[in-house]
This record gives sequence, C-alpha cells and structure tokens, in this order.
Amino acid sequence: MKFFLDTANIEEIKKANDMGIICGVTTNPSLIAKSGRPVEEVVKEIADIVDGPISGEVDAFTLDSEGMIKEGRVIASWHKNMVVKLPTTQEGLKACRVLTSEGIKTNLTLIFSTSQALLAAKAGATYVSPFVGRLDDISTHGVALVEEIAEIFDYYGIESEIIAASIRSSMHVIECAKAGAHIATVPYKIIEQMLKHPLTDEGIKKFQNDSLK
Ligand code: E4P
Repeated sequence: MKFFLDTANIEEIKKANDMGIICGVTTNPSLIAKSGRPVEEVVKEIADIVDGPISGEVDAFTLDSEGMIKEGRVIASWHKNMVVKLPTTQEGLKACRVLTSEGIKTNLTLIFSTSQALLAAKAGATYVSPFVGRLDDISTHGVALVEEIAEIFDYYGIESEIIAASIRSSMHVIECAKAGAHIATVPYKIIEQMLKHPLTDEGIKKFQNDSLK
C-alpha cells in the first residue's frame, strides 16, 4: 500500500517526504483554508516538494460540471503531477468524464457507498476516495466500505485506485491495508503514531547505557 499525506502544511510534507514514505499528497478546501494561503500558491509549492500525484480540489462552491471542468483544467495546468479532486455527484461525474477524456487525472472524493465508488470508476476516475473516519463517526463501519469496494474492483479488474481517506488512527491504516486499499492518505500525526513504539525508544536508551559501560 502506498501512502499519501493528507495536508497542506508544507513543514509536515517536507518531514514526511524526507523520510521517503510518501509518494503523493491530497488536499481539500478545509486543509487549504487551514494553511491560510491561496490554493494555487500552496499546491504549486507542494508539487515542487513531492514527486507524485498531488490532489487539488475544485472550489467548494462550484457545483456545476461546466465550472468544475473549467477549474479542473486550470488545476491540471499548475503542474504535471496534478490530480483534480471532484465531489461524487452527478455534476462531478460529468466533469470527471470530460477531464478524463482530456487525459487529466481525477480523484473522486466524498465517497460513502460502494455504489458511488462504482459510478466514479465508470466515469473514468483515476482515484476513488472512500471516507473511513466520517463513516465511523456516524456508527457505520468505514473499513468495511473499503473492503467491499476493493473486492469488487479486483473482481472486475477495475483500474481506478482506492485511496482510503478520512483516516483517524494507525489502526485504520492497518485495517485499510488488509481490506485492499491501494493507498492511504493520512494526516502527519498518523505517521507519527505509526512510527512510535515505546520499546524502540527504550531499546535506544539501553544501547546507549550499555555503550557507556
Ligand atoms: C482526503 O482526500 C480527504 O479530504 C480527507 O481525508 C478528509 O478527512 P477528514 O474526514 O478527517 O476531514
């Protein structure tokens, strides 16, 4: 399974990139707003740091396919690695079909059901993003959604890659890996959780103490 970082925080992206563990970045309007910078400026900076797919989402208020297509073309022009993130709606699917036919990569976001994932794949989505954490938040098993999508995509040889999104814990990452997600997009703090083990820290201390004897 590949890892993308789910943030627009440049310092976190540099840290994860320096460790060699991420091969892409996903952003969304909330993450861009948190950065406090214009979307084009921050996304271009991210694309200069990470040599891999960078998802930039269309404006949250753009709900019609014409608007999404127009914005998608602009986003795609920012860098060769740009992926246009579109909401999984009727208009989003229409935009996905057009952008895909122009060779532009897409990430269909806000996926909460297997049927949405199937339709997104049909429309030509490069990536589909089921939201695990937000489903868990409403007492629905988010990982089960990833598992079902992965099973069906595998059965039919569907090429869209599954990005497990809205990841809230390191256990989510492991469960999504077991469920067959191709990618997990994770906040930086999840990388820290995945890396940290008290026995590793203790082991380093013991080696240091023993070296001094
Ligand atoms: C990524 O593509 C999503 O936008 C992101 O994972 C959403 O995460 P959240 O549910 O924590 O906002």
